[in-house]
Amino acid sequence: MRAIQISETGGPEVLRLVEQPMPKLQPGQVLVKTHAIGVAFPDLLVRSGRYPWMPPLPYVPGNEVTGHVVDANGSTRLGNGQLVFFTSWDMGFAGGLYAEYVAVKDTAPWPLPDHVDLDEAAALFNYIVASLLMEHGARGAEAATVLLHGVSGGMGTALAELALLAGSKVIGTAGTDDKCAFALARGVQHAINYKTANVVDQVLRLTDGRGVDVVYNHIAGNSFVDDMKMLAPLGQIVSYAALGGMPQSDLFRGMRAEIGRSPAVRVIGTHVFEKLPHLRRAAFEKVLGLHAAGKIKPAVTTRLPLERAAHAHRLMESRESLGKILLKP
Ligand SMILES: NC(=O)c1ccc[n+]([C@@H]2O[C@H](COP(=O)([O-])OP(=O)(O)OC[C@H]3O[C@@H](n4cnc5c(N)ncnc54)[C@H](OP(=O)(O)O)[C@@H]3O)[C@@H](O)[C@H]2O)c1
Repeated sequence: MRAIQISETGGPEVLRLVEQPMPKLQPGQVLVKTHAIGVAFPDLLVRSGRYPWMPPLPYVPGNEVTGHVVDANGSTRLGNGQLVFFTSWDMGFAGGLYAEYVAVKDTAPWPLPDHVDLDEAAALFNYIVASLLMEHGARGAEAATVLLHGVSGGMGTALAELALLAGSKVIGTAGTDDKCAFALARGVQHAINYKTANVVDQVLRLTDGRGVDVVYNHIAGNSFVDDMKMLAPLGQIVSYAALGGMPQSDLFRGMRAEIGRSPAVRVIGTHVFEKLPHLRRAAFEKVLGLHAAGKIKPAVTTRLPLERAAHAHRLMESRESLGKILLKP
């Protein structure tokens, strides 16, 4: 069977197509033929050696997949033909899903109803993370108005859709007019091109000077300085990644300077939910339920053959991609 493997970390070219033997099933495992594999930014971090929890090499990347069971191996839970979704979280954070077939414990996959679109469902991991960020990252904050950086990306589109569903007014930022148009077409109320407009001024104008209740920030760097100026009283920044590096300025001083609004920052990584499996499970159940009921529609924009994994990574790294990229085995 075909899989994508890295033997060393580096640029997209280290993602190589390899032939591997079909997985041998252990007792209690089922064999899944994959249908769609989600590409996410953490895959790029692992590939380039920047992920804080680096796996041993050689390594098959991939953390989110849909498919169907082709060998139930006597499972009483899953039969042949059952449609499934699962993530690395369901299988001990092992990765390994950029592959045509996967052997997995029969307790891991989430069964999907027959009517579900397997491509869309392969993009649901972003929604599960988004749901955890909203419920536990922004815990305690009112969320009448939220600001989403990178609103046209995988996480951005998921956060936007869930926030809109929860009744929030959503303001997004993106780096091109096309990305802003994409976000507006998906229902966000306002999208600001941060390359051509002053985001702080625009956000304060759009909120009558009050600011937003919650900012979801995956950039860090010096972006907090501006975020702090756009927070409503008792507002909260949810910091879920640091693509722009560490802040140069003293964050605590910056927070004290805005004491009149009592800002909060929660730094959150999904690995915390390893210690909180009941919250993780609840997020899966909620998101899969919303999708099965047709209440959310992931923004799958790009489908590439498995062997074009390197191109998928280049596309994501170029920041030209919109919504979710899938690999199709
Ligand atoms: N906490 C967690 O456990 C968790 C789970 C999943 C993902 N994440 C993180 O969430 C972030 C987004 O992931 P994703 O899969 O949604 O990625 P994505 O689809 O590529 O979207 C990221 C967006 O961020 C914007 N951006 C701003 N600064 C950037 C930079 N320095 N490099 C690249 N993009 C930048 C880009 O939009 P513009 O060019 O328009 O600014 C891009 O559209 C990543 O940092 C990822 O590690 C965290």
